[in-house]
Order: sequence, then C-alpha cells, then structure tokens
Amino acid sequence: RTVYVNGQYLPEGDAKVSIFDRAFLMADGVYEVTSVLDGKLIDFDGHLARLERSLSELDIQKPDCFDDLLEIHRELVRVNGITDGMVYLQVTRGAAEDRDFVFPDPEEVKPTVVLFTQSKPGLADSPASKKGIKVISIEDIRWGRRDIKTVQLLYPSMGKMMAKKAGADDAWMIEDGHVTEGTSNNAYIVKGDTIITRQLSNDILHGITRAAVLRFAREAQMKVEERHFTIDEAKDADEAFVTSASTFVMPVVQVDEAVLGDGTPGPVSKRLREIYLEESR
Ligand code: PDD
Repeated sequence: RTVYVNGQYLPEGDAKVSIFDRAFLMADGVYEVTSVLDGKLIDFDGHLARLERSLSELDIQKPDCFDDLLEIHRELVRVNGITDGMVYLQVTRGAAEDRDFVFPDPEEVKPTVVLFTQSKPGLADSPASKKGIKVISIEDIRWGRRDIKTVQLLYPSMGKMMAKKAGADDAWMIEDGHVTEGTSNNAYIVKGDTIITRQLSNDILHGITRAAVLRFAREAQMKVEERHFTIDEAKDADEAFVTSASTFVMPVVQVDEAVLGDGTPGPVSKRLREIYLEESR
C-alpha cells in the first residue's frame, strides 16, 4: 500500500514520523475519515471544512499541502486501487525538539500530515447494515470539546471493547441521563414518524454524515427534531440508528436489554440509508 507522509508518496513500510511528534506523545492532532464508494470520495468538502475548523480551534497551522488534499486523496485511491473503503487523514501539531506541554513555536515546527487508505469491499451492503446492530449504554467521560475531531480515541476504543464484551456491537454514551453520541458515530431515535437526534454543541462531533442525512430527511418531508433524548426514551423508541462516514446510516435494533420494534431494521432507518447512499454517490 502507498501512503502519504509530509509531501511524499511512499510504500507504507518506508513511512516515518518522529517519536517526538505531539500526536504520539500528547494526542495533539486531528483527523478525518472519508469513505470511498465505487472509487468516489463521499462528502469530501464537508470533511475538509471540518478539518479546517478542528485545526483552527486548536491553533494548529494549516499544513502547506492543505489546498492539495483533494488531489492527494484521489491519488491514493487511484494508486491503491480502492473501489470501496476509506481514506484516513491525520494532521498533528508536529514534532517538537523535546517533550514539553507548551506548544512549540509554529515558525520552527511544521504540522505532520499523514494519509492512508483502507480497502473495504462491499462497504455499502455490509451484513450489519441488513441485520442492524446492538448498542449498550455507558457513561460519557470524555473531555468537553467533542466537536473537535482529535485523535484522543482511548475512551471510545474502551467503549467499543465494553460493548463487545457485553455481546453488543457498539456503545452509546450518556451524560446527565441523555445520550450524547456513539463511540464513533452520531445517535438517532425514531418515534412515530419523527427522527430525533441531539442538537449540535461542543458535546458531540458535528457529523458530516449527520448533516447530509438531516438535509435529505427534510427534503423528503420527514419530521426532524434536534434535541437531546434520554436513554429511557431510546429504549422505548420505535427505531434507532447511527450515522458516520464509515457506516453511513446503520440501523440499531437493541439498546441495552430493550429490543426495538420487531428487532429488525425499521422502515425509517432503511429508507434513510437508501436515500443517503443514492444521493451521495
Ligand atoms: N468517526 N461522533 C464521533 C465521536 C465520531 O468519531 C464520528 C466519526 C462521528 C460521525 O461523524 P462523520 O459522519 O463525520 O463521520 C460522530 C469516524 C468515522 C472514525 O473515527 O472512524
């Protein structure tokens, strides 16, 4: 596989970053995941705009290659022959001379940029999307700036592991009794004909897939409420689903012990998945 590191395309085995890179030592970096379907990047502009915002919120300089990122994504998809899969992009504050809590001088230290691809044949019709997934609820103990897409993913990884251990697929995180989001996706419930998802704030990542799905839902005259909801409401919902660049619209059929509807993906979730895949391809 060919990867991109700081201006160079290299075989993955030849790619190097410093052990002093602040993302390695301090999780001081941000990332984006853009999916690829039929060789085409999905929602690239949204991901690039969010990257720019994440960098600016953390005072990380825009890398010199920023304006070439679309071209770099396309080139990696091409050379690696990706039909279905994803492109991972990470930008860190860079490698300072020594470990220090103080940010290095941006005149001296340039951001590190890394991109690689992952091939996922059949991404758009995974078995999970047909069966739906089970989620458990866990406490949300992450930091307060979840709107910034940083590489601090330890707790979300632990959450995913807690879910696996409990025989489920993923975890929904709860703060003050309300669902914030999934470990790597935004969370939704459906009551009657209304789609409910948490309003945007610093408490959740502003999903690019979320924005597209809500736009398509409104265009299709479906009712949308952006408000927080409790885990009890979720257990009592008719349907639920999650969205992310890697799963699109993924039906949820069980929340903790509560089976939703008849335990199979509900009509609203299925319709939204179809619309999303059709409109964004
Ligand atoms: N995760 N919330 C969290 C905490 C996320 O990590 C993600 C994405 C989302 C959905 O955002 P988007 O629709 O822009 O992908 C919501 C990516 C896919 C990941 O970490 O792999």
